[in-house]
Amino acid sequence: MAEVRFVHVTKRFGDNTVIPELNLTVPDKEFVVLVGPSGCGKTTTLRLIAGLELVSSGDVLIGERKVNDVAPKDRDIAMVFQSYALYPHMTVWDNLAFGLKLRRLPRDEIRKRVEDVSEILGLDDLLGRRPKELSGGQRQRVAMGRAIVRRPSVFLFDEPLSNLDAKLRGEMRREIAKLHRKLSTTIVYVTHDQVEAMTLADRVVAMDRGRVQQVGAPLDLYKRPKNLFVAGFIGTPQMNFIDVEVSKGSASGSSGLVVHADGLDLDLGDRFDGPTGRRAVLGVRPSDVIVSGPEASGLAAEVEVREPMGAEVFLTLDSSCGALQARVDTHHGARVADRVRLVMSADKVHLFDVESGRSLDRAYDWKDAAPTEVGKES
Ligand SMILES: Nc1ncnc2c1ncn2[C@@H]1O[C@H](COP(=O)(O)OP(=O)(O)OP(=O)(O)O)[C@@H](O)[C@H]1O
Ligand SMILES: [Mg+2]
Repeated sequence: MAEVRFVHVTKRFGDNTVIPELNLTVPDKEFVVLVGPSGCGKTTTLRLIAGLELVSSGDVLIGERKVNDVAPKDRDIAMVFQSYALYPHMTVWDNLAFGLKLRRLPRDEIRKRVEDVSEILGLDDLLGRRPKELSGGQRQRVAMGRAIVRRPSVFLFDEPLSNLDAKLRGEMRREIAKLHRKLSTTIVYVTHDQVEAMTLADRVVAMDRGRVQQVGAPLDLYKRPKNLFVAGFIGTPQMNFIDVEVSKGSASGSSGLVVHADGLDLDLGDRFDGPTGRRAVLGVRPSDVIVSGPEASGLAAEVEVREPMGAEVFLTLDSSCGALQARVDTHHGARVADRVRLVMSADKVHLFDVESGRSLDRAYDWKDAAPTEVGKES
């Protein structure tokens, strides 16, 4: 069991600074998921923990131990990659036992560990097979088993499910959730898949260009995105963004902010704070856009595309504020070419500073924040 800590870590490949400064604590026994666009440094971060890359400066700690100069095999970690290279000529049993034999564990101990893992992962009937006789999901389970038998204090997963089809991904995702409950070991898990991130993580770390943008419980990032990057990255379909002008107070006597755009006026009450008389970005999740009939008061729009997804429907709407998406119930009556009104509730929207991308939500206090905290290049 161990926590993992990055303290002022930087990583450069030649002249290319991939991680400008990373400070991050992965608490003991937590399931932490790293998300971010391709190339933002997720794999590099895992490889720094594993010791497959060395930091350019700063420290990596596992437990109390600084591991900057500790060889990968002595870091007490196990890593599972997207491409799980099993030994093709060995049976499942031998694949699981191989690493333990190399470490010269007693034969009884090896048998016990392989049997335990086989039971946890449901591999009992497969132990005599070779990898080519297994399905993709079964192979992936063996690859995980190989990591688990080592009983490391930290597991590192790099998109372990991305080679599997949608159904298997779902099954394996639930297996991994169960596994974490059983093993209660620290896990750092990288994925592109929002569902994996939202369902597996105790804590999500959203990264952009080598910088941490926000760390929090999955729903925190969803409900209270700290900046435009996180707002746009978390959630499908993506949050709608509308350029607005900000002013203070309104005819209704509100003391808070009011935003205006072509065809749109919204009194935000006192949830947000920020300079008035300048532009900002209003964010509304598609599920928070209420699509009403033409008699309602709201932003006028026309339905351009209607995509039935089963339980719900995605609508693409053309408005004076640009194209917007809404996510409505499957029974919603809106059809292509219908004229509708879009109603947005002040307590569901988000507001961001145009320049810095920072949320203007009063929940965030930026006074002491470093100028680079939201990922703008300094
Ligand atoms: N060995 C290397 N030498 C030079 N540059 C590298 C090396 N490894 C990674 N990089 C660069 O570092 C950046 C981060 O790469 P990394 O593999 O960590 O991204 P990632 O977030 O895992 O992306 P993906 O989602 O595509 O896997 C990229 O710009 C990549 O080109
Ligand atoms: Mg990667």
